[in-house]
Amino acid sequence: MTYENVILDKEDNLATLYINRPKAMNALNRETLLDIKAVLMDVKNDSDVKTLIITGSGEKAFVAGADIAYMHNLSVSEARAFSQLGQDVFRMIELMEKPVIAAINGFALGGGCELAMACDIRLAAEHAVFGQPEVGLGVIPGYGGTQRLARLVGEGRAKELIFTGDTIKTPEAYRIGLVNHVYPGSELMDQAKKLAGKIARQAPLAVGYSKTAVGKGLQVDIDTGIGMESDLFGMCFATEDQKEGMKAFMEKRKPDFKTK
Ligand code: CAA
Repeated sequence: MTYENVILDKEDNLATLYINRPKAMNALNRETLLDIKAVLMDVKNDSDVKTLIITGSGEKAFVAGADIAYMHNLSVSEARAFSQLGQDVFRMIELMEKPVIAAINGFALGGGCELAMACDIRLAAEHAVFGQPEVGLGVIPGYGGTQRLARLVGEGRAKELIFTGDTIKTPEAYRIGLVNHVYPGSELMDQAKKLAGKIARQAPLAVGYSKTAVGKGLQVDIDTGIGMESDLFGMCFATEDQKEGMKAFMEKRKPDFKTK
């Protein structure tokens, strides 16, 4: 299937989603969000795909935010619906069991920073720029930024970034824990693929259960969280991968996980 505003590339066990509106710095309008949603459904249902990388087309931008040209005349109810659409699509990334890696190749502002934050692991090019500049436009982050930024970098840093609209470069984003790794732009995609490959060699169901345990655990108290963990740990023992993984260890060989 072809999309107007994104490109989906599949190779072996890896899917790569390129947000593809380089002339508008890959800004997110309604159609682009719907394309991302369709890609997420596709990736979720494709048993050959084990990991997804999300990146931006072109050299300059990952995503420079929600599309300001699209938004500028929205009514209150249209704006709320546009916010909810982005929130729902980004939440799909978090709820999908397959790991999603953001390869941040340039500007990740507003909705772009929010998209990156909804991914599981963030790798950034040295030249990337991050921020939530919404207050300078008379609005607030609307795709989960007020919630995820505080969870990722702490309340004080999140409030300062959001209240000032300041942008930060990759080294500072790395320092505050917004990104996991920093690479020269020319190496970013290779490194993202390397990481995706490493994850794809692990037991797929166990990776998915881990994502669920960490993600859902962050929403609840520790006792509920560890309760979910032991349930999921138990469920692993109903899988072929657990049998193969532990048998391979005892036979001193590499496991051959068959689950898709
Ligand atoms: N929406 C729509 N168009 C955008 C855009 C956006 N978020 N960001 C960039 N563009 C467009 C520009 O309008 C310009 O189009 P034209 O060539 O037709 O004029 C084109 O992309 C290139 O942009 P610039 O000429 O501005 O490029 P630059 O290199 O000088 O600056 C930039 C790059 C710093 C990213 C700058 O474009 C910018 O500040 N963009 C807006 C960033 C922003 O405020 N994002 C938050 C949006 S609100 C939001 O995201 C709300 C939410 O949470 C839901």
